[in-house]
Amino acid sequence: MSTRKGSISVKTNDIFPIIKKWLYSEHDIFMRELVANATDAITKRATLARTLNQEVAAPEIRVVVNKKEKTIIISDNGLGMTESDVEKYIAQLAFSGAEEFVKKMKDSNIEKGGDIIGKFGLGFYSTFMVANLVEIDSLSMNEGSTPTHWSCQGDTEYTFSASTKDTVGTTITLHINEESTEFLDKWKLQATLKNFCSFMPYPIFVADIEDKPEDNKDSINDTKPLWKKDPATLKDEDYKEFFRKLYPAEQEPLFWLHLKVDHPFTLEGVLFFPKINFNRPFNESNIKLYCKQVFVSDNVKNIVPDFLNLLKGVIDSTDIPLNVSRSSLQGDPNVKKISNYIIKKVAESLKKLYTSDRPRYETIWEDIGMFVKYGSISDTKFDEVMRERVIFKNSENKFATLGEYTASIPAAYADKMKTESVHKVVYFEKLKSDISLRTQLLTEGLHAIETDDHIDPHYLQHIETHKLENQPEYKFVTIDAEIGNLLASENTNEEDIKVKELFAKFLVGEKTTDEGPMAAGVDIEIGKLKNAQAPAFFKVDEQMKRFSQMAKSMGNSNMFPVKKTLVINPNNNLIKNAMKIWNAGKHPLLVEKICHHVEDLATISSEGLKHDEKELFVKRTQELIEELSTLAL
Ligand SMILES: Nc1ncnc2c1ncn2[C@@H]1O[C@H](COP(=O)(O)OP(=O)(O)OP(=O)(O)O)[C@@H](O)[C@H]1O
Ligand SMILES: [Mg+2]
Repeated sequence: MSTRKGSISVKTNDIFPIIKKWLYSEHDIFMRELVANATDAITKRATLARTLNQEVAAPEIRVVVNKKEKTIIISDNGLGMTESDVEKYIAQLAFSGAEEFVKKMKDSNIEKGGDIIGKFGLGFYSTFMVANLVEIDSLSMNEGSTPTHWSCQGDTEYTFSASTKDTVGTTITLHINEESTEFLDKWKLQATLKNFCSFMPYPIFVADIEDKPEDNKDSINDTKPLWKKDPATLKDEDYKEFFRKLYPAEQEPLFWLHLKVDHPFTLEGVLFFPKINFNRPFNESNIKLYCKQVFVSDNVKNIVPDFLNLLKGVIDSTDIPLNVSRSSLQGDPNVKKISNYIIKKVAESLKKLYTSDRPRYETIWEDIGMFVKYGSISDTKFDEVMRERVIFKNSENKFATLGEYTASIPAAYADKMKTESVHKVVYFEKLKSDISLRTQLLTEGLHAIETDDHIDPHYLQHIETHKLENQPEYKFVTIDAEIGNLLASENTNEEDIKVKELFAKFLVGEKTTDEGPMAAGVDIEIGKLKNAQAPAFFKVDEQMKRFSQMAKSMGNSNMFPVKKTLVINPNNNLIKNAMKIWNAGKHPLLVEKICHHVEDLATISSEGLKHDEKELFVKRTQELIEELSTLAL
């Protein structure tokens, strides 16, 4: 065959310089593109051979590096191409794809294409990022074909000539340019291939031309990754092993779900619930996206909702458009369907675990709770399935759903805990609320659920404002604000007013600022509790507390200072004694110290003393004990 020259009809003259420019961003994707093309060619050959009842050799893709010659050779035994195929698919069609890419890059005015290039099937022409001469040798599977040789130096001219290729398939020879010699190292090439091609469906072998044949007997990839397998044939250990392969540094996953759907879109994958790592940002995506077993991206943002970013694993779908911009991805109907499907499956698998193995569900709640609440806030469908399955720790450190909580309320309190159709839920802020209050409620058989200060302020608010059909309505009340309503035994009388005045005298008047004596934040109230054990506790306005929590969880800790009220229980013996000593008039200083001590104890029982308050507390306590012990002598 004689040599024939041709030229690529270009509308964008600067296409090659632009392709080369990406050299410094994600230039290693050329390998993914070539292996993906080889894979397609092998699949096509297998399909055609089946219809023609032909036998085909075992599929394989071989990559050979030659440092001396500065070449990388990629061969496949796929369907091969005739000269006119190369002309049509490589010189014309593939080129128009690349041309469109360049146009998009120009339109979007993006300086560095790193973000887009990995998503865009730049295809065959990405080789010119690393090579200054690319050759194709191909023999088509069509009966009586002659092999063809094509070469192009990264400009618009190309040449066809005779080829000596005698086996069906395609061999691409890349003459690596000066800037890309790192790829001439077998280990570097292997690492690149493992990144993109670890789960490609046909075996890939990598060799250095100087290796002995027995050196590279193993393929670098797993041709049948876990997500392609039938879940019925898989054991727990298989999933754990696969997870270890994907995330070698991570702890064992808590549980997983296997996704498989063919209609109305294709999707396969495995999603894992990892042990939560609070040190890692939650807005980073951990799910790997594949398209026909070819790695596409580490980031599925805009494909699945943010709350699913806490999951890890793999999704593989041919129905996720890879070459459109991020923002239009969200509007894509297939992407929307896929996203909804994943949410549904995740909710179903949580529901299944809840029903079939509640103890296990409770064990992993610490890790999945945040995820479930975040998901419920973000997605109504998810919320509908999960609301009755969100669990809270009760006062006995046992888990309860809101339904179980309301069911546990003693008959004597049924009226107080329900107004019209709204159920009250008493909550207790972990490490903040006064523990003695919880004990007091519990002696009456009333529980309080424990809440955190990350997601719970948002979640409680969400439940109160988003009623679900056929599900009860809830109103959350903090334990300190509610205990008076629940446990107050009798109305206050004149004696009680005196107690209030006594405490106000020592505690309110003391801290005068520019704004007057009340500005210190303590207010005094009387609360006659049935249980006389606690002398006093702090009550916080529910609404103010919510505002403050919200502000805090958004990183604004000083926006809403919360005003606290010290509730004094005149039924308590210490309070009674203080009143008696005061009335006797002999030891006013002692009474003052007792008042402070009562306040300090209430502070310790709730949020605890701040650093500077500690010193004062120790000093006062020493003085108090000294005075009392002197009196006892
Ligand atoms: N190894 C190969 N064997 C047979 N045909 C090939 C091979 N490599 C490329 N081709 C042909 O060249 C065409 C262009 O390849 P290119 O990678 O540029 O685009 P594509 O694979 O069609 O799409 P994508 O943008 O997803 O890569 C392919 O569609 C195929 O017909
Ligand atoms: Mg391709």
